[in-house]
Amino acid sequence: MTARIIHHRTDAQHALNEAVAALAEGLPVALPTETVYGLAADATNPAAITRIYETKGRPRFNPLICHMADIAMAEWHAVFDPVSRRLAEQFWPGPLTLILPLRTDSAIHPLATAGLDTVGIRVPEGFASTVIRQLGKPLAAPSANTSGKVSPTSAKHVAEDLGEKLTLIIDGDAAPVGLESTIVRVDGDLVRLLRPGGVSADRIEAVAGLPIVRPQGAAASIEAPGMLASHYAPGAPVRLNATEVQADEALIRFGERHVEGEERAIAVFDLSPRGDLAEAAANLFGYLKQADATGAHGIAVASIPDKGLGEAINDRLSRAAAPRP
Ligand code: TXA
Ligand code: MG
Repeated sequence: MTARIIHHRTDAQHALNEAVAALAEGLPVALPTETVYGLAADATNPAAITRIYETKGRPRFNPLICHMADIAMAEWHAVFDPVSRRLAEQFWPGPLTLILPLRTDSAIHPLATAGLDTVGIRVPEGFASTVIRQLGKPLAAPSANTSGKVSPTSAKHVAEDLGEKLTLIIDGDAAPVGLESTIVRVDGDLVRLLRPGGVSADRIEAVAGLPIVRPQGAAASIEAPGMLASHYAPGAPVRLNATEVQADEALIRFGERHVEGEERAIAVFDLSPRGDLAEAAANLFGYLKQADATGAHGIAVASIPDKGLGEAINDRLSRAAAPRP
């Protein structure tokens, strides 16, 4: 089996109809979202959800984000506190996932939430939201990559990784944000940041009017079961905060900052020559894959500012560099 690829920009109606038809049959479909490409399935259909876990090789204890068309649809499945509601109104559609108590009468299947009494909900932009509206069901959708690998920001990335296991990939060009959604959980008078992502923590703090707390170490992996230390891993080892390039390394840098010995790098990728963190986020996963594809023995990454979206970029880089299981 090799996936059919339908291009959304050139064939919008066809892409929509084929995606909805496959999803209604219980098949997973890879489709573009503003953050990364998702591997989507009907969140109420256990057979469809099982196919997601199998296709990705994902552990079943790791719950999936459920994507909704709008806040009204989200309210069918989850209970909103006032702060979560304000965050939803401000940042949806967009790269924010809220962890909320699951309603006992929700039709979301427990396989999607890994049996938890909470659900991660996000309202995506554009094509994905049109698909949800036409299907009339929430979509469970993790990133469309083999578990533990770098997330896909193009249909080509998906095809290279999962093309043989899928029937349909919708191509919506490069994902504009390039990093997964920020995941938060409002907890009394604070907001827990379970995963930094496409909305920076300072923007969330400003809207919530509550302090952001970052769970550390073991607490973090319990609160968001998918946050395993080693993740987003390319084949070649990743070396962080590199101040010089070693033999046979490719270099990833930021803001045209020169790195000692970069003339001997196998290849040099600048995440954003003009020093823009949003541009750097959009380029990150693609450049990790390209650096890996050079055949370099290692990937050296120069330091990247840790403010704003830099927090999410550095989170993904530290997982890419973490010791592999
Ligand atoms: O931008 C994104 O969020 C992308 C696109 C496709 O929407 N999706 C994505 O899904 O990144 P995934 O499966 O790669 O990451 C989902 C994360 C995991 O770390 C999982 O543990 C966490 O969300 N999660 C989901 N439901 C949860 C819940 N009820 N409680 C805590 N964490 C949850
Ligand atoms: Mg993922």
